[in-house]
Parts: sequence; C-alpha cells; structure tokens
Amino acid sequence: MKHTCAIFDLDGVLVDTAKYHYLAWKELADRLGFSFTLQDNERLKGVSRMASLDILLEVGQMTEHFTQAEKESLAEEKNNRYVEFISKLDESELLEGSLALLETLKAKGVKIALGSASKNAKMILENVGITAFFDVIVDGNAVSKAKPDPEVFTLGADQLNVPYEQCVVFEDSQAGLEAAKAVGMLALGVGQEQDLPQADVVFPTLKSFPVGVYF
Ligand code: BG6
Ligand code: MG
Repeated sequence: MKHTCAIFDLDGVLVDTAKYHYLAWKELADRLGFSFTLQDNERLKGVSRMASLDILLEVGQMTEHFTQAEKESLAEEKNNRYVEFISKLDESELLEGSLALLETLKAKGVKIALGSASKNAKMILENVGITAFFDVIVDGNAVSKAKPDPEVFTLGADQLNVPYEQCVVFEDSQAGLEAAKAVGMLALGVGQEQDLPQADVVFPTLKSFPVGVYF
C-alpha cells in the first residue's frame, strides 16, 4: 500500500546523535563509579531524559541513592554535556541517505513529520540544516507521554490530517517501533535486525530504503 506521510525519529535515524547521548550518559556513569556499555545503551534509545536516567541508575544499582531533586540535577549534568556535543553539529553528522530521502519525499509531495523524544530536537535540525523539510515538528517539549506511548506520532499525523494507516514511521528504537505499531502505523526499523525485533521491516540505513515501494 502507498503511504502519504513519513514520520521520522531524529536521534539515530536522521542524525548521528545517538553516540553523543551514549558518551554523555557514560561520562555520568563513570563519575558515579559504574560501567555503562553500548549494550546497556540500547535500552535508552527513544526513551525520555528522566526515564533514561532511571534505567542508567538501575544498571549501576543506584536507584535508591538519590532524591528527586538530585536526579534532576544528574539529568541536567548529562544534558549540559550532551548540548556541548551537539552545539558543534553540522551537516556532516546527517546519517547516510537521510538528506536524499527527505528530498525525494518532498519532491513526491509526501507529508513529513518529526516525532522525536528529544527536547533538543529543534537545535539539532537547525544545526544540520534540515528544518525546512518538516511540515510539522513534534518533540519532547510537545508531548505529555513518552514513547512507547504513540502520542509523539499521533500528534503529528493529527495536525497533518493524515489517517494513521497512511503513516510510515522511521525508528531506531524499540520504544518508538512499539509506539508506531500501537496505532497501526507502518513501523520501519533503521539499524540492525537483532536490535529491532518489533519492526515490520528493517533497513540498515536510509540509503537502502526503496521509496517507491512505500510511497
Ligand atoms: C531520544 C533519544 O531521541 O531523545 C534518547 O533516543 C534521549 O536517547 C531522548 O534520551 C531525550 O533527549 P533529550 O535531548 O531531550 O535529552
Ligand atoms: Mg532514535
């Protein structure tokens, strides 16, 4: 079936920022005295900042060590470090095939939405120069419920007046794929098949995505 709307996750799908999230969390874990591996990091993809902190503290078996106020300051510490990384982003950090895909979809008249958990999404879009492609931007500031709740995708589709079954979601996270499937959107995984068992189809990068099959 042909679809009329593409909804993109940002971190790890369009832009190579997942590595900076990992580095910033890892620095925090190192400072707190425990190790945080790339495999642990898979659980954080697509997950909101505070929920990510909870998972990180669980990995370090430190869940009970901090008050809510202390946790907020730990999350802020991580975010400050992350923002240092992303303030230097430029178009070289766009992931393979993302710019070409956005251009092709735009030329076909497909509606394009962002559906990202990040509160830093707008800064990232600006720094890599792709803001203008989006008909609607839904980010971590706009939602009240985080992925795997589908709100971040339904808000965009609703604003564009597109039925959910006409939406294709591009995601690198388990939480995001679950969110898309919950409302009948096509859930396309970007990454490695073994990390994304919930996906309807997985593509290693956007470069290998066959646009004509889906749009
Ligand atoms: C998602 C990332 O896009 O945004 C998560 O995959 C991140 O790793 C989440 O925690 C929230 O991002 P931010 O920039 O608001 O801390
Ligand atoms: Mg992502």
